[in-house]
Amino acid sequence: MKVAIDGPAGSGKSTVARELSKRLGIPYLNTGLVYRAFAYACLKESLKGEEVLKLFEKPPEVITDIGETKVFYKGQEISGLLGSEEVGKVASQIASLPAFRERINSFFRALVGDSQVVAEGRDAGTHIFPDAPIKIFLTASPEERARRRYEQLKAQGLSVSYEEILRAVIERDERDKNRPQYPFKPAEDAIVIDATDLSVEDVVQKVLSLIKERV
Ligand code: DC
Repeated sequence: MKVAIDGPAGSGKSTVARELSKRLGIPYLNTGLVYRAFAYACLKESLKGEEVLKLFEKPPEVITDIGETKVFYKGQEISGLLGSEEVGKVASQIASLPAFRERINSFFRALVGDSQVVAEGRDAGTHIFPDAPIKIFLTASPEERARRRYEQLKAQGLSVSYEEILRAVIERDERDKNRPQYPFKPAEDAIVIDATDLSVEDVVQKVLSLIKERV
């Protein structure tokens, strides 16, 4: 069985996907982490723009475990090195290249093959695994997503303004929805769950009962 979980940043999709992987006992594919691994390799090799496509000759290695995705580059584990703003910025740049998205989506399909997976990422149900029998689009209000981001940054000791974060969240939503190629929206057969007032456990229970009904 394949479970695809899409949703915007701050919707809680990573936490929910990891938890589902553990409860179902099937591997977890964090596609955002793989985008970041390619971004890391771009920085290491000083690749610019479409030169990123060269990486598919010897791509980062991806291991999908229960509740965890690990990535390696040139034999070294880099999973813990990918959280920086710098890597995030390059990941978002390569993510905007249609040629890269096409290649990495085939890469994900080849990686998983016929195996079971909980795959998480912005277009997991629309473009990566369009045949997944369970597709969830997890979302939350912009205010709630901004609040989570605000709490996260504050916990890291950064001084940030909630108003500014909220403005950035709203701007990014508009940009993602309106981009001409790969606009970000739920798959037609996705089940949309609004997690604004739900705990992680509430969302996990909802998805588990959907799986029981459908599979
Ligand atoms: O979820 P994240 O922040 O780790 O993702 C890193 C970047 O990659 C982010 O700019 C979104 C992009 N991404 C994407 O466009 N499609 C995916 N399936 C996963 C990530």
